[in-house]
Amino acid sequence: MKRFLHHDELARDSRFVRQSNAQSTVLAAMPDDLDTVVNAFEQFSDMIEESVRGTAAEPLFEAYGPAFALTILNEPIDPDVPEALTRLLLRMHGIFVGEMQALEGAARSLYDFPDAPWEFKMNMARQCWDEARHVQIFEKLLTHLGGQVGMFPESTFLFEAACSDDPAMRVAGVNRGLEGLACDVFRDMIRYAEKTDDEKMRQAVDYVLADELTHVRFGSEWVREFTKGDPEYLERTQEYRRTVDKQFSFGGARSDREDAAIPIAWEDRIEAGFTEEELKELATLSGGGPSKETLREAARIIRERHMEKRKAKSGEEARS
Ligand SMILES: [Fe+2]
Ligand SMILES: [Fe+2]
Repeated sequence: MKRFLHHDELARDSRFVRQSNAQSTVLAAMPDDLDTVVNAFEQFSDMIEESVRGTAAEPLFEAYGPAFALTILNEPIDPDVPEALTRLLLRMHGIFVGEMQALEGAARSLYDFPDAPWEFKMNMARQCWDEARHVQIFEKLLTHLGGQVGMFPESTFLFEAACSDDPAMRVAGVNRGLEGLACDVFRDMIRYAEKTDDEKMRQAVDYVLADELTHVRFGSEWVREFTKGDPEYLERTQEYRRTVDKQFSFGGARSDREDAAIPIAWEDRIEAGFTEEELKELATLSGGGPSKETLREAARIIRERHMEKRKAKSGEEARS
């Protein structure tokens, strides 16, 4: 069996639609400049349209244009906003495919490093077992909310961003980066479930979150073990996690800002072995990229241009 699998090679059945990872990666690296953001989305417009065709996200593309994800990513998830259910389903579906990629990430960690200690392999095996359960839980929650598997396209950028070929970097990226992001998102989902009195969802996500804390802890412990006696290696690992975290901050949507769509789950992360210092750093790191105002204004302009294009097209069709 092949080691170090490329994200394109992740196997999916015919229910799934694959989306290019470019959008997520590009956004995190963008400066806080309106024209740059608008141009980037317009440049990717055809590709985004292609990727949502035939999925539940197609009406969102029609209504908001290629930057529909910006509108959704940047607003906190709230039961009272328009399209609340579609947005919730989009996030729930994202979590579901994220769990699959976490399962694949942990399974690859178990297989890719044959010389790693037995205890490491046991920890990764335990994580696979947990992630498999999470996949099932989120599949059920998706159905519980009225959605289904494959209704939105899947981006595999979580897997792509977190899976380094080096064992210490791998656990830093997957177990501290990806699993840390899971803690933030799940704490937010619990808040949403409390707001909507959805006891099923609240309890299910609470159980999953408890597992994720363990997975982050695996990461914290194994980074320390793999880099023992080599401070330069430890620093490189930390740097790699910073890069991953930056990509997982979605241009400031996940941050310590008061208006963040995904707030940092401070207490959960402390329990999982992050230090106050690392979290303070994470808060400033996530605060980089385009500001919320820039993204909001960009989304408005892109939507307007999209509407004009659609109007011109229907005019042409009427004339011919
Ligand atoms: Fe998980
Ligand atoms: Fe996990």
